[in-house]
Amino acid sequence: MSTDAAPRTNSAPASPFPTDDPVLRLIGDTPLVSYPGTDRGRVLCKLETENPTRSMKDRIAMGILSEALAEGEYDTVVEASSGNTAGAVAFVANRLGADCKLACPDSTSRQKIGYMKAFGAEVHECPSDVESGHPDHYRSVAQRLADEDDGAFLVDQYHNQSNPGVHYQWTGPEIWGQAGDRMTHLVGAMGTGGILSGSARYVQEQAAAAGRDVTVIGVDAKQSNISTAFYGKEPVPYDTEVEGLGKGGDLPTMWFDYIDEMRDVADERAFTQARTSAQEHGLLIGPSAGAALSVALDISEEQPDATVVTIICDGGEQYFDTLFDV
Ligand SMILES: Cc1ncc(COP(=O)(O)O)c(C=O)c1O
Repeated sequence: MSTDAAPRTNSAPASPFPTDDPVLRLIGDTPLVSYPGTDRGRVLCKLETENPTRSMKDRIAMGILSEALAEGEYDTVVEASSGNTAGAVAFVANRLGADCKLACPDSTSRQKIGYMKAFGAEVHECPSDVESGHPDHYRSVAQRLADEDDGAFLVDQYHNQSNPGVHYQWTGPEIWGQAGDRMTHLVGAMGTGGILSGSARYVQEQAAAAGRDVTVIGVDAKQSNISTAFYGKEPVPYDTEVEGLGKGGDLPTMWFDYIDEMRDVADERAFTQARTSAQEHGLLIGPSAGAALSVALDISEEQPDATVVTIICDGGEQYFDTLFDV
């Protein structure tokens, strides 16, 4: 097997989770490109779509599973997820030779279930109309699958500190290596808070050491509860079609200390931005990335000297039906 350690881009620091596996080596080292809709270099998109399952969740699956499975204590991986994490966990478990059991709500898109099944995971589709805490809720089902099997490891992205920790070790250093000399803002959508707060911690530490400031802005939907939690306000009824944004509640993986501000985006704007990005600029992005990009564009308009890095969490191909009515 190849042990070639060359990164895909020239600027990437070495992966903190080295592997000889040629497929797992495709995770990370993602490009940072200038958004074509602005003057070159003003808004920079970190294309996490370039990971093998088309989202940044490949990184946490790789970081968490490679460490958990290293000791040989576990042979099965379990996770509850309605989104990108499930596909990423299925993919990495496949390459690391572990069995994979996933619980998701039955409202999960067929594209996302496709990723889980493609990599051979056992998929438990659970009723989506039951409250959290109900025995049939997908998180309860995942917990039961893990409890029933001594060899099972539960990833638990909503509580596992390695979720932001992996981004602190991996995504943050990549972003700093690519734009640390000029970035003034970092903008990203928040669900578990992993990618933005983990990357933000690294970027803020480096900026402080260099005597500079980087402002970190979290993005939420108007009818979602990350910004209400951040500002200590009453929660609003959760009602957003933008997948990946958090519901609030218990948020231990959200390292709010490294977030300066939250901005809310209406669903329609997030979807329109994702469509515009593809139709006018050839960049196929998902709605949560559309929300983040719309805030990045606002900042670049408000502050003509800003250089804004925004995280593109996933690609538009998982949302062809809702974005482009196919
Ligand atoms: C499409 C999409 N965008 C944004 C997020 C938020 O990322 P994080 O959970 O790291 O905050 C997620 C997480 O599930 C996601 O799937």
